[in-house]
Amino acid sequence: MTRALALLLLAAALAAPQEHSYTQADIEHGARLYQSSCAGCHGPNGDMVPGIELHRGQFRRATNDTEIMRIIQSGIPGTTMPPSSFSDAQAGAIVAYLRTAAPASGPGREGVSVARGDAAKGKSLYDGKGQCGSCHRVNGEGPRLAPDLSDVGTVRPASELRQKLVDPDALVRPGNRFVDAVTKSGAKISGRLLNHDTFTVQLLDSNERLVSLSKSDLKEFTFVKSSPMPSYRDKLSAGELDDVVAYLVSLKGFRP
Ligand code: HEC
Ligand code: HEC
Repeated sequence: MTRALALLLLAAALAAPQEHSYTQADIEHGARLYQSSCAGCHGPNGDMVPGIELHRGQFRRATNDTEIMRIIQSGIPGTTMPPSSFSDAQAGAIVAYLRTAAPASGPGREGVSVARGDAAKGKSLYDGKGQCGSCHRVNGEGPRLAPDLSDVGTVRPASELRQKLVDPDALVRPGNRFVDAVTKSGAKISGRLLNHDTFTVQLLDSNERLVSLSKSDLKEFTFVKSSPMPSYRDKLSAGELDDVVAYLVSLKGFRP
């Protein structure tokens, strides 16, 4: 059930710019495309190119689904990873397949959605020591600087939530990217990228104001490589991390 919902949300996230949506049939289509075009090099389980495990989300270069799609379409110049003529929908279907094909068991995948910790303790850590609420919003409380976590338990499995806490730069979703812009008059604006098209960029700045910029007025426009989120690797003990993850897993959506 959680898995089905996660699939839908994944599909929605992938589809955001073009309003595509992916069904189970698309994911199966992605699986067939993978077996015919990719498995020859990457192997049926995505682990034959050293250092890359496509089915487990372990990449050397790609940091999000949009980049994986771009790599599928353009290849990686100077390497044997070839370009392809796949459409956005086909590349998206392959990514949807890769993201859902993770083996049910195996290293790092045990207990994907089973959290070991104590959710109530996790909530106290979220509010207290972790200071998560200074950036995040849950069930209508907190700022909008960082993603709303009200339904994060349906979007990400426990293993990913834990990884996010110790290594925030990993697994940044396309909708959660931050950009630095400098206008031609020298003003610097940083914020969370909400949308962009050929001519304009919309950001949510640090005062939670929606800023719309004209690309022709910009001197620089760069994606921030690292996540603004601090790592909790040394700030929380292993047990405390389990508790925070248990709390996050319990967040299954806010219905006002
Ligand atoms: C001819 C062999 C070959 C084929 C076919 C191939 N790949 Fe690759 N792929 C590679 C190699 C080799 C690399 C590593 C390149 C490097 O970084 O040196 C790679 C890298 C990648 C990466 C980047 C991973 C990272 O670490 O960021 C992705 C994603 C990827 N391939 C997906 C695919 C998909 C999906 C297909 C099928 C549409 C595919 N590849 C087909 C050989 C191949
Ligand atoms: C300084 C601000 C800040 C603090 C403090 C912070 N975060 Fe974050 N967090 C972010 C930002 C910004 C992102 C979005 C970028 C990214 O994915 O790395 C994020 C992303 C996340 C994500 C991934 C959301 C998704 O849907 O992909 C989770 C989960 C998360 N934070 C949980 C926490 C928890 C739990 C704490 C406290 C232990 C915390 N964060 C503290 C800023 C913060």
